[in-house]
Amino acid sequence: MVSKYAFGSPFETEAVTAEFPAAAYTGQAVCGDIPVDISVENGFSFSFEMDSADVVYGLGEANRGINKRGYRYVSNCTDDPHHTEEKVSLYGAHNFIIISGKSHVGLFFDYPSTISFDIGYTRPDRLTVRCERADLYLYVITGGSACDVAKQFRGIIGKSYIAPKYAFGFGQSRWGYKTAEDIEAVVSGYRDHQIPIDMVYMDIDYMQDYKDFTVNPERFPDFAAFVQRMKEQKIHLIPIIDAGVKIEQGYDIYEEGVEKGYFCKREDGSDFVAAVWPGWTHFPDVLNPEARAWFGGKYQILTDLGIDGFWNDMNEPAIFYSEEGIKELNQAIGDHVRAFDGAGGAENILDNAHAVPHEARAILEQIQNNQEDYRRFYHNVNGKKVRHDLVHNLFGFNMTRAAGEALRKIAPDKKMLLFSRSSYIGMHRYGGIWTGDNQSWWSHILLNLKMMPSLNMCGFLYTGADLGGFGSDTTRDLLLRWLALGVFTPLMRNHTALGTREQECYQFEHIEDFRHVIGVRYRLIPYLYSEYVKAAQNDDMYFRPLGFDYPDDRRAVETEDQLLLGNEVMIAPVYTQNVSGRTVYLPEEMKFVKFMPDGSLYEEILGQGTHYVEVALNEVPLFIRKGRCIPVVDAAQSVDAIDMDTVQYLGYDGAAYEIVS
Ligand code: NOJ
Repeated sequence: MVSKYAFGSPFETEAVTAEFPAAAYTGQAVCGDIPVDISVENGFSFSFEMDSADVVYGLGEANRGINKRGYRYVSNCTDDPHHTEEKVSLYGAHNFIIISGKSHVGLFFDYPSTISFDIGYTRPDRLTVRCERADLYLYVITGGSACDVAKQFRGIIGKSYIAPKYAFGFGQSRWGYKTAEDIEAVVSGYRDHQIPIDMVYMDIDYMQDYKDFTVNPERFPDFAAFVQRMKEQKIHLIPIIDAGVKIEQGYDIYEEGVEKGYFCKREDGSDFVAAVWPGWTHFPDVLNPEARAWFGGKYQILTDLGIDGFWNDMNEPAIFYSEEGIKELNQAIGDHVRAFDGAGGAENILDNAHAVPHEARAILEQIQNNQEDYRRFYHNVNGKKVRHDLVHNLFGFNMTRAAGEALRKIAPDKKMLLFSRSSYIGMHRYGGIWTGDNQSWWSHILLNLKMMPSLNMCGFLYTGADLGGFGSDTTRDLLLRWLALGVFTPLMRNHTALGTREQECYQFEHIEDFRHVIGVRYRLIPYLYSEYVKAAQNDDMYFRPLGFDYPDDRRAVETEDQLLLGNEVMIAPVYTQNVSGRTVYLPEEMKFVKFMPDGSLYEEILGQGTHYVEVALNEVPLFIRKGRCIPVVDAAQSVDAIDMDTVQYLGYDGAAYEIVS
């Protein structure tokens, strides 16, 4: 059962699509049998005592465990590339939690600004949710299980976006590919070594001076023909689109936006100016439906050239500094700031960062992603001026919504790939997300795994992390182990940062191991895509914590490094260095399967309980649940080339499986 409560004057975020009346809050407890303290004095605060056995699921893209107990989290979309354990905010704001124990209650705090969740951090058994203004909707969902609550929640927020099948192929990315030749070299690197691939991502350097919807004509002399040539090789090119529109006379998108008044404005009505990769930019006011339609329409410039997928970036929106911030900095440090006058754009920023004295850099860091900047500009929401910080967490959602709505018009019969860095619940109807700038750290394999079911609860099914790690140098074994998890995540993309070690799979020794691991992905695509589409259609989760299916098995509930996938599979990837296997907990009898490097399958029935399983670097393990089976095909070089006539069923005898495409 879902109840909706209104406090104050909530902003209509459009996270929820189901329409039902809100009950006014009468000062009564709202959480079924759980006594709740709600206060609307001095902001909003919601608090109650958790049972010691309660597990708290949710919060989508957030740090720490699948069980969120014991820490604090703040929904405040932030461009922070250091996902260390103490970080409380990442790129998304997914304010949905499920408290699961003797009873099962879901809470969605539909509030578009900063909101904090203290889940047993200050006091081990107390859960407190706080935000500055008591203007929000609270949805309370009660159900028979965590699964049931998640499904009911998904039922009210609208169907999840469905990515095209090719987007289940493998993708290679790097911040640093600049020219058509760079991309061709990557494609040859994969094709020549017969490592399957379907996508190459184009980071900011394909653009002319980092201007959205432009292509550098020197680097890509005939872009449409290039896109076509790539298609003939079964490669989809996926360009990045950034939130900031470069300020430059003669750049049509900048000029049109200014003329139509479609950029975010300062209080005095002038267009707000922020520095991002292109140097000084304006932000399209994607909360204004007209501006949103205008910005979304621009994606057609690239779809007309044959592009059929996009990733939206820097849409928290990330701000290196504002004009106001730079003035303040100028006053503080004088001369050094000249290197950061914003005009030079990304190169200027990157080239000069090291030249700046230590003290100046510290100040520069202070003005980056400065919360004060978010109070310096406004949106026009249906004629009402709304200060950005009050709706901050909706920017990435609405930038991606702009693209999603437009792409549905541009190509109504075609599925396009679309995913975003920043998001709020509701954006799941328009695109997926990737989890941003992780690092080449073993602990980030595990963080990747833990985020997946939490994101699924919030509607985000097409998700994945930068495999191999974005920041810092990867290692061969790290990449292989991470890929063996990526085999199962809907988005399977190797991406890395400028200046890091080369990370394409063909750069490492024994390329055959990479060919094999990625080949396993292709062998499983009919199964994985079917489970994904079914999850989207039925408001189910593609990945589930073990506790969702085995709530009475405490060991299963406490397992944080294994996941259930669909109805048939459990995954337990290896995520530590220099080991030849791992311990795994089986809540029931399962078939342990390994895809062996020679193409054969290792199969062993393991009983309920704990087992140590050996998994070499070049093997991909999975577990099939009792009585179930999955379809497996022969490996292929691209999704298009998968031959369904090669399908075989793997698992227990006599089971049926429905393949969806
Ligand atoms: C930040 C994104 O998170 C990253 O993936 C990208 O490579 C850089 N921006 C450059 O565009």
